[in-house]
Amino acid sequence: MRDWRIRPAERSDAAAIVALEAESFQSASWGAKAVADGVADRHARVIVAAPDESAPPAGFAFWRRIGDEAEILSIGVARRMRRMGCARAMLEAIMAAARADGVRALYLEVDVANAAATILYQSLGFEKIGRRKRYYRNGGDALVMRRDL
Ligand SMILES: CC(C)(COP(=O)(O)OP(=O)(O)OC[C@H]1O[C@@H](n2cnc3c(N)ncnc32)[C@H](O)[C@@H]1OP(=O)(O)O)[C@@H](O)C(=O)NCCC(=O)NCCS
Repeated sequence: MRDWRIRPAERSDAAAIVALEAESFQSASWGAKAVADGVADRHARVIVAAPDESAPPAGFAFWRRIGDEAEILSIGVARRMRRMGCARAMLEAIMAAARADGVRALYLEVDVANAAATILYQSLGFEKIGRRKRYYRNGGDALVMRRDL
């Protein structure tokens, strides 16, 4: 387990985040333009994680606050840096930032076929609260999960 450096993304991180998102989601990627627009969107909160201060980002996450709720929009970690606690560290940072902002509950959607992410979220206290049929472009259902803060 590493001690991840987590910080808000800057515009100069956009290319790295585009590459990480494409590697993470492949055919289900948002696409380079949407990812770059998301980095620039002042309503989105974007964080990156790196193993040390001089290293390029190994993970990214997008989230946004809506009143006293918040939603995780996307999270991904470079393949070669997985199972080292990066996603967990980013989610813990989001939970702490959201809580400090007065957010009461954090939501996300996850593909029912994505066991790795579902286990990760459950290990952090997210609970399954619903299912959205045919939510993804490939026809897959999404689980809706919530974590009270
Ligand atoms: C899901 C993803 C973000 C996890 O990132 P990660 O940095 O490897 O996750 P962590 O190392 O923080 O894992 C924390 C815990 O989650 C669970 N977990 C993570 N990956 C897992 C896997 N492949 N299989 C089973 N459990 C897994 C484990 O409980 C793990 O703890 P452990 O390693 O001590 O057993 C990463 O696999 C990824 O980028 N996948 C592709 C994109 C994606 O699916 N994003 C989520 C969309 S909702």
